[in-house]
Amino acid sequence: MKVEPAVRLDGHLAVPGDKSISHRALLIGAVCDGETEVRGFGRSGDTTSTLEAVRALGAEVDEDGDRLTVGGVGLRGLRSAALDCGNAGTLARLVPGLLCFQEGEFTLAGDESLSARPMERIAEPLRRMGARVETTEGHLPLTVTGAELRAIDFELPVASAQVKSAVLLAGLGARGRTTVVEPSPTRDHTELMLQAAGARVTVRPSSVSVEPATSLRLEQVEIPGDFSSAAPFVAAATLLPESRITIHDVGLNPRRTGLLDVLERMGGRVGVLARRRFGGEQVGDLEVRSAELTAATIRSAEVPRLVDELPLFALLAACARGESRVYGAGELRVKETDRIEAVVDALRGIGVRARAYPDGFSVVGVPTRPRGGRVDARGDHRIAMLGAVGGLVSREGVQIEGAGSVAVSFPGFFDLLEELIQ
Ligand code: S3P
Repeated sequence: MKVEPAVRLDGHLAVPGDKSISHRALLIGAVCDGETEVRGFGRSGDTTSTLEAVRALGAEVDEDGDRLTVGGVGLRGLRSAALDCGNAGTLARLVPGLLCFQEGEFTLAGDESLSARPMERIAEPLRRMGARVETTEGHLPLTVTGAELRAIDFELPVASAQVKSAVLLAGLGARGRTTVVEPSPTRDHTELMLQAAGARVTVRPSSVSVEPATSLRLEQVEIPGDFSSAAPFVAAATLLPESRITIHDVGLNPRRTGLLDVLERMGGRVGVLARRRFGGEQVGDLEVRSAELTAATIRSAEVPRLVDELPLFALLAACARGESRVYGAGELRVKETDRIEAVVDALRGIGVRARAYPDGFSVVGVPTRPRGGRVDARGDHRIAMLGAVGGLVSREGVQIEGAGSVAVSFPGFFDLLEELIQ
């Protein structure tokens, strides 16, 4: 697909429901007592994998557009199944936490990219709790056999919301109080939803504990727009002169919105209007106007708050005055692809000077339009989105190889983009 240069973006939009929260609504809804009504479900390749997985595990799910009704089977009511996780890392990392205290046997497989991603990071702490989890040399396919669990105190070796969530979910079915200590704060959607479901969760600045539960009940979940899906529009409107867009009902959980803080340091102009809450989740409208940017430095403590937006940060940095640098982001190497190499290659492919480091990258910013050229998404939706925004803000447009990968998080992305282009 070729994305041509644009003059400016103008208009109002809404993005699909948050992917992280959509996975959690299905998984937690499936082990609730009674029905959970999910509004604003973010339908995508990844969340469809989770929808199919909870059905295979015995939960009924009725669909009516972006409204789902999940028939919970109770905390220990999931039945044996073979699950296909597709490309969905969040499904593959979270569901074992619930499976390891069920009666039954479960297998998890995934696509080629997911099968190359590390799974010992969840298997190891779950085994410490008494779980029977086998990986294939640290990867999928993985098997889980139900067992009696005991609580642990676990210090996360890497800042990962997926690993934290797997341990907390297992803690629901373990004897004693399970505690997870984080090196830096990661997204807390699991904690917020478990609290809403009646679980006893104690949140401290750098740790979280969960008590065992006998039953959970959610009833209703309203899912805000996905900040990570709003981010490409924020980046494009910032970079295209005289743009002005408003993105409605965006999730603004402070552990997700690091890009807004970084953009503010760079001179970006993003205003938050109509702040409110959907349950425990913060929501608002984002008003984005174009701005001239200066370079920024991102250090490890900030990385989890914008980990999925770092490819877009790289593009913003390419158009900012000065050299930008990201430190402490080695986790990017184990995402859908090695996102450090993929980002640097993508930038070079459109005429930008960038350099990879073991734990991050640097970008030489020039406050003009990059030349454009070709970006290989390497099957990674976030790199395809970098390529798309890169095309809009370039002089010659960008040819994206593998643009279809955006469907794992945001199937209507290119259509929505087209509606806003002036
Ligand atoms: C996610 C956590 C993050 C993020 C991913 C979604 C989640 O992964 O990159 O897109 O929903 O918990 P890690 O836990 O590997 O950092």
